[in-house]
Amino acid sequence: MTTIGIFGTGRMGVRLARMFAQAGQKVILGSRSINRATEIVKGLGQETISAGSYADAANADVILPGMFLRDGMLDILSPWRNHFDGKVYIDISNPFNDTYTDFILPWDTSGAEQIQHRFPKTRVVGAFKNVWWEVFDAPIFGDTVSDVFVVSNDTEAKAKFMSLVEHTPFRYIDAGELKNARTVERMTLLSGELGQRYGYFPRMNYKLLGEAWTLGQNDHLGSLIAGKQSRS
Ligand SMILES: NC(=O)c1ccc[n+]([C@@H]2O[C@H](COP(=O)([O-])OP(=O)(O)OC[C@H]3O[C@@H](n4cnc5c(N)ncnc54)[C@H](OP(=O)(O)O)[C@@H]3O)[C@@H](O)[C@H]2O)c1
Repeated sequence: MTTIGIFGTGRMGVRLARMFAQAGQKVILGSRSINRATEIVKGLGQETISAGSYADAANADVILPGMFLRDGMLDILSPWRNHFDGKVYIDISNPFNDTYTDFILPWDTSGAEQIQHRFPKTRVVGAFKNVWWEVFDAPIFGDTVSDVFVVSNDTEAKAKFMSLVEHTPFRYIDAGELKNARTVERMTLLSGELGQRYGYFPRMNYKLLGEAWTLGQNDHLGSLIAGKQSRS
């Protein structure tokens, strides 16, 4: 069985630990304070989660840091960089500033790309970036299953990620290459603002709507419009 090593016992780390355990995966919940992790794991009551340090999390097969870039995440993880080589790194980061009003990174990069640059031999898969923490407590919106956009430059790593999230309560959308994290991360900035405006915050997520489109199905409308254009 694959073990997922989570770094940090914050809002996301604890909920993702619970979600992966409920989906049948083995999890190490790593913390700067093993006592804190131990108490949380006791409270979660899931047999497949164990408490540990960051070093324990770094030894897992797949790693998932649940901390902020603005808090120095890249430097905090650096001591274990060699443990990350060849492993799938599930990146959930959004590069928010302290006031959540903007990002600390410019438009032409993303948290995911910065992580890949810093740990070049790890296999970064960006996911869960738009899922606000409270959504994990009740993931279904009425009858609607919401989306998680998944980005990576590594097709095998993306497939591995997809196998780990089987039996979790989201639909996973292949959102292409890692550079698309620039857009996906900024979608969180937008949803945060919209959520505050419309009173949804933090219970909201995205859902891509669409239907398969058959070539020629709109020929009638197309010819009407073309006819109108040729008369004008
Ligand atoms: N909150 C959301 O709704 C949400 C949604 C999508 C993505 N994300 C992303 O998920 C990541 C974690 O977000 P979060 O909301 O779960 O964060 P959080 O509640 O603030 O938790 C962050 C955890 O990081 C660890 N940590 C290590 N060094 C730290 C330091 N110097 N200062 C503060 N904490 C430190 C702490 O765990 P230990 O003390 O146990 O080590 C802390 O509990 C971020 O990159 C964020 O952008 C968040």
